[in-house]
Amino acid sequence: MTNSKVLINITNLSKIYHTGGTQTKALKGIDLTISQGDYVTIQGPSGGGKSTLLSIIGLLDKATSGEYHISDVSVTKLSESQMAKVRNREIGFIFQDFNLIGDMTVSQNVELPLIYRGINKAIRKEKVAQVLNRVNMTERAHHLPNELSGGQQQRVAVARALVGSPTLLLADEPTGNLDSVNGDSVMQLLSELNEQGVTICMVTHDSRYAHLAKRTVNLFDGMVISNTVNINQDKAGQKQAEVNQQDVAELMPSKIQVGV
Ligand SMILES: Nc1ncnc2c1ncn2[C@@H]1O[C@H](COP(=O)(O)OP(=O)(O)O)[C@@H](O)[C@H]1O
Ligand SMILES: [Mg+2]
Repeated sequence: MTNSKVLINITNLSKIYHTGGTQTKALKGIDLTISQGDYVTIQGPSGGGKSTLLSIIGLLDKATSGEYHISDVSVTKLSESQMAKVRNREIGFIFQDFNLIGDMTVSQNVELPLIYRGINKAIRKEKVAQVLNRVNMTERAHHLPNELSGGQQQRVAVARALVGSPTLLLADEPTGNLDSVNGDSVMQLLSELNEQGVTICMVTHDSRYAHLAKRTVNLFDGMVISNTVNINQDKAGQKQAEVNQQDVAELMPSKIQVGV
């Protein structure tokens, strides 16, 4: 991770929801940097702003104020259609409830983002086959989602998120609807993808999985209360994380705790 390129740079980001007569300050001045190859988990209690932050990072929602750059593009200045284009090209999203289309097969679900991008059929077929192989779902290519276990459905959702080679893979509670065996297998898949170079930002309230990431950001009441580098990253005892102190210094110096 030495001198990794900064992909996501968020400064003083706030989000206020207005519903009826009430205002909810969901995010209050968030600073966050995500570098190429990073694996960040966002943790914290329910209502802390995790999903709001992930939706803004994924361009599904807009901040009320603050700066947000993807690579060097200031996304706060983009129009809706420009945002949709960046989202389609740069972001892969995985949700808690998989969000697969029930009457489409596994391969049709995975192919969909490529159809939106106008990619020709031969290339689509090739990319779908590659990515299904990567998530170990080739055998199920012609099944419908309801013929699969939850873990398998989430693997398909991961394939759909990855098929367009996004810059960043975002996951909001990806194991929230899974039993522990299926949850562990999806987490194992995400770790493998990160080892292969995929940059990941994942929201989870399950602290069992925090150690798999390279960094843990804790959100509480709309604020980052800690930003911890997991030095002893334990991928089932496989290897330690590489930590770039320069990246660390670029984060929030006053709030960093370097885990040991
Ligand atoms: N669409 C919305 N409209 C109004 N308030 C919202 C909306 N989405 C989230 N909130 C509020 O913003 C705060 C943060 O919510 P959320 O980001 O979903 O937290 P988390 O994912 O950490 O549980 C909560 O108080 C929640 O009620
Ligand atoms: Mg949430």
